[in-house]
Amino acid sequence: MRHVNIIGTGSYTPDNTMSNDDIAKLVDTSDEWITSRTGIRERRISTKESTADMAYEAAKRAIKSAGITVDDIELIICATITPDYFMPSVACTVQGMLMAHKSAAFDLNAACTGFVYAMVTASQFIQSGMYNKVLVIGVDTISKILDWQDRSTCVLFGDGAGAAVLSASDIKRGIIASTLSSDGSKQSILYCEAIPLANPYIKYKEEPARPSIKMQGQEVFKFAVRSVTDTIKKVLTMGNLTEEDVKFLVSHQANRRIIDVVAKNSNIPIEKFYMNLERYGNTSSASIGIALDELVKTGDLKSGDIIILVGFGGGMTSGAIAIEW
Ligand code: COA
Repeated sequence: MRHVNIIGTGSYTPDNTMSNDDIAKLVDTSDEWITSRTGIRERRISTKESTADMAYEAAKRAIKSAGITVDDIELIICATITPDYFMPSVACTVQGMLMAHKSAAFDLNAACTGFVYAMVTASQFIQSGMYNKVLVIGVDTISKILDWQDRSTCVLFGDGAGAAVLSASDIKRGIIASTLSSDGSKQSILYCEAIPLANPYIKYKEEPARPSIKMQGQEVFKFAVRSVTDTIKKVLTMGNLTEEDVKFLVSHQANRRIIDVVAKNSNIPIEKFYMNLERYGNTSSASIGIALDELVKTGDLKSGDIIILVGFGGGMTSGAIAIEW
C-alpha cells in the first residue's frame, strides 16, 4: 500500500498589518468587541500581493522545506475562492511562476475547508499511483470580496497562503484517515455572489453591486461547532484513534469561541488546538495551511505524533484529516 506523507510546509502573509483599532476607524466597532467575540486582534491585508503572488511565496517555501526541486512536482492543487482570473487557475499561474514544467495544475473551491479538500484530493492521486509528489496550496485574498462597510463580516477576515508538499512513501506513516462532507442546503448562511448575468438581453436598472461576503453569523457559528465536533469524532473513529492519542489539532482559524466550544464538546484540552487567529484572523482557504506551517516551525511536532487537520466553511463544507507525523 502506498502511504502519503507531508514532507514540507510553507506559508506567506502580506506585510501590511491591520489592527482592530485600524478597523474601528472604518466601521462602528471596537478592539474590545472584536477581541471578546472572536479572539482576533489583527490581520494581514494585501496592499500589493495578488492571490497568485501569495500562493507562489508559500509554495516556494514548502518546496524548499521538502528538500525537493520544482521538477519533482507532478501536480499542483490550489484551494481558493478568490482567484485573480476566471482563467487561468491560480494553480496554473503558480506553475508558470515556479517553472514547474512537469506538473498538471488545477484549482478547487471548498471555501474555508479548501485546504483539507485539496489535501484529501492530493492524497487520492498519490494513493492511486498516478502521482508521487503533489503541491497543495490554500490561498485567499479575501479582502477583495469583503464589504468594508459591513462590520459583521469585515472584522473577521485576513489575507494569506499556506502550502504543503505531499509525497508517496512505503513507510507506514502520514495520512491515516480522512473525511469530507458538504451540505448545499445551507448555502444561504454564508456566500458571495459572482458576477451577474450580462449579455445583450439583460438591462439592469442600476449597476449591480460589487460581490461581497454575506453571512448569518450565529447560524454559521452553530454549524461550525456541530460540524467540527462531529468531523473530529468521525476521523478519530475511522483512524481507530482516541482523543488521548492526538497531540495537536489544527482547526480552521475562524473564531476562538468556536474552538473553545469544540474543545469542550470533544473532551480535548484546549491547549492541543494550535491557534494563530489572534494575528491573522480568518484567512479562509489558507488558514489551516498557515497554522500547520507555524506548528511545524515551533519544533513541538515530533515524528510519530498524531495531528488532526479540521475545517469548515461556505458550502457549507467540512472535513478532517488524521495524520501520523
Ligand atoms: N462591532 C460591534 N458590534 C457588532 C459588530 C462589530 N464588528 N458586529 C455585529 N455587532 C453587533 C450587532 O449589530 C448586534 O447588535 P444588536 O444587539 O444591537 O443588534 C450585536 O453586535 C450582536 O451581534 P451578533 O451577530 O448576535 O453577535 P455574535 O455574538 O453572534 O457574534 C460573530 C458575531 C460574527 C462574531 C459570531 O456570530 C461568529 O463568529 N459567527 C461565525 C462566523 C464565522 O466563523 N464565519 C466564517 C466561517 S468560515
